[in-house]
Amino acid sequence: MKKYVRMTLNERVQHLNLIINFAILVVTGFALKYSGATWTTPITDVPAGMTFRGLLHRLSGAAIVSLGLYHILYMFLTPRGRSLLVDLVPRWKDALDVWETLKNNFFINRPPKEIKMGRFSFREKFEYLGLVWGTAVMTVTGFILWLEVEWLKYFPRWTFDLFRAIHFYEAVLATLTILVWHFYAVMLDPDVYPMSWAWITGNISEHEMKLEHGLHLERLEAEERMKGSGSTEDLPTGQQSMFAGEVNEERTSVRRFTRRLREFNERMRNWPGV
Ligand code: HEM
Repeated sequence: MKKYVRMTLNERVQHLNLIINFAILVVTGFALKYSGATWTTPITDVPAGMTFRGLLHRLSGAAIVSLGLYHILYMFLTPRGRSLLVDLVPRWKDALDVWETLKNNFFINRPPKEIKMGRFSFREKFEYLGLVWGTAVMTVTGFILWLEVEWLKYFPRWTFDLFRAIHFYEAVLATLTILVWHFYAVMLDPDVYPMSWAWITGNISEHEMKLEHGLHLERLEAEERMKGSGSTEDLPTGQQSMFAGEVNEERTSVRRFTRRLREFNERMRNWPGV
């Protein structure tokens, strides 16, 4: 079965970094707002727990800002990053896709229309823009909270309170976006359940490509036909790594492990019961 590279190793490491730091920021941030809640007792009931919480929040804040800066360099300075950037720009076709999706969901299109999307669907583009916007807002407001004393030397108190409120509500929005939207798209959606393995293996299947990125698949297949041999050596710069062809599943122990996990899941799903 053909597989397509969705995330390179570099991108997976960036993603893992984001997962870890974001999770720490959510826990240590909300533990300040809701310091009386039962779930915060492991933090509040240990000596210097709250001091450690504040320190960890600032450390992870600095880490996520550094990751953001690295990501900007990656997107602008590498051929692969630039090709991702171009494909992430929202276009008129995305608005049409939203429209057709709504018509499908409200049974106006009967039968539902097949929507062929590009390398990134409108949902993914929107999510990515939300992440960029959210990180910028959290960085600016986070540093203002961090430098409270300096800020209050130059600006009135109400501006500080306003930025604190923005930091809090953006934190709520970001957490809900990840829990509801992102987790649905990459885990609970029946098309990918129990989860899309791309964040671990880096690849998606031909089936997933057809379903979510039909237009992009057609483009890659056309390019492959043009090359004749199936080799991707001559693809335009930045495109080479998109196509993995047959992936040697046994190459690394991580791949072996995820393959076994996938097979186990598959068996569980097809289990007839007792
Ligand atoms: C992106 C994920 C982030 C989330 C989910 C988050 C969440 C929160 C929450 C819920 C609060 C409590 C607000 C209140 O009590 O009203 C808070 C406070 C704070 N945040 Fe963040 N934050 C994030 C990023 C950052 C960043 C990037 C920085 C620094 C650059 C930062 C620095 C601070 C500071 C200094 C405080 C106040 C004092 C403290 O926590 O001890 N935060 N954050």
